[in-house]
Amino acid sequence: MKITFLGGGNMAAALIGGMVERGFAAADIQVIELGADNRERLTARFGVRAVDAADDAALACDVLVLAVKPQQMKAALAPLAGRLVRQLVISIAAGLRLADIGRWLGAPGAFYTRLVRCMPNTPALIGAGITGLYADPSVDAAGREAAERILGAVGSTVWADSEAQMDAVTAISGSGPAYVFHFIEALEAAARALGFDEAGARRLAIDTVLGAAKLAASSEDAPGVLRQKVTSKGGTTEAALASLAAAGWHDALVAAVKAAERRGRELGAELGKD
Ligand SMILES: NC(=O)c1ccc[n+]([C@@H]2O[C@H](COP(=O)([O-])OP(=O)(O)OC[C@H]3O[C@@H](n4cnc5c(N)ncnc54)[C@H](OP(=O)(O)O)[C@@H]3O)[C@@H](O)[C@H]2O)c1
Repeated sequence: MKITFLGGGNMAAALIGGMVERGFAAADIQVIELGADNRERLTARFGVRAVDAADDAALACDVLVLAVKPQQMKAALAPLAGRLVRQLVISIAAGLRLADIGRWLGAPGAFYTRLVRCMPNTPALIGAGITGLYADPSVDAAGREAAERILGAVGSTVWADSEAQMDAVTAISGSGPAYVFHFIEALEAAARALGFDEAGARRLAIDTVLGAAKLAASSEDAPGVLRQKVTSKGGTTEAALASLAAAGWHDALVAAVKAAERRGRELGAELGKD
């Protein structure tokens, strides 16, 4: 499978690193990237071919991964319009809709449809991401499998049933690391208020989240059951959870995710404007 990346920044580098580690041949990977420094870095680190414009060799691929910023996409696709024939196109750009990408990629008056839209998250940069994917109905099983293998190089994958669900993926796992960082900040602040120095407070907060997430991921019990197992009647955890419930913490988080989903829909409409 020959793969070309359009855009060779942070996320492309993480994907290429993960793919090479999992046995993809560097000779089968190319990158179209404007920045000379990025091109040199990618070639030196991974041995991939990196060029500054979409030449015929770069487009002689099975899969094209769109990895430029959403606001750079329309201009980046202009030189490719009407030049794709059979390639599977995978966009990792946040918020951009398939119809807009298809319109920008097609020959004048035509749409390109062999498209998959993905939403990775920032832990993908260390190989611990979660990516939501949605494929145009014209993409066959082999195309879906190829997308899963590529995004699977930087973490786990989940398919969305509809493109509208990608705004929900963005709100849950795309923005999700920020919610967790915010939780860590609050736990750290509480530890500081109870007398720990900065380093000790941060260690307590981060390792608590890390350990609890690992336990939740490896346990057969649902998170709610694990929570109940830590919560003894009349104990310290029960006192804390009662305080969180009184503050409306659970509902506040659900409302926050819904606000992110609404904003995702608005941004998608703005980004796709011609
Ligand atoms: N980073 C994340 O954790 C994350 C998470 C989810 C989704 N994503 C998505 O992943 C995509 C890439 O993000 P990133 O963080 O990797 O961005 P990035 O580091 O800025 O990488 C984009 C690269 O594309 C280059 N570029 C711009 N226009 C180009 C063109 N016409 N032809 C070829 N290359 C071009 C940019 O060069 P210049 O710098 O010179 O403009 C830059 O090196 C974005 O669409 C983002 O929404 C990223």
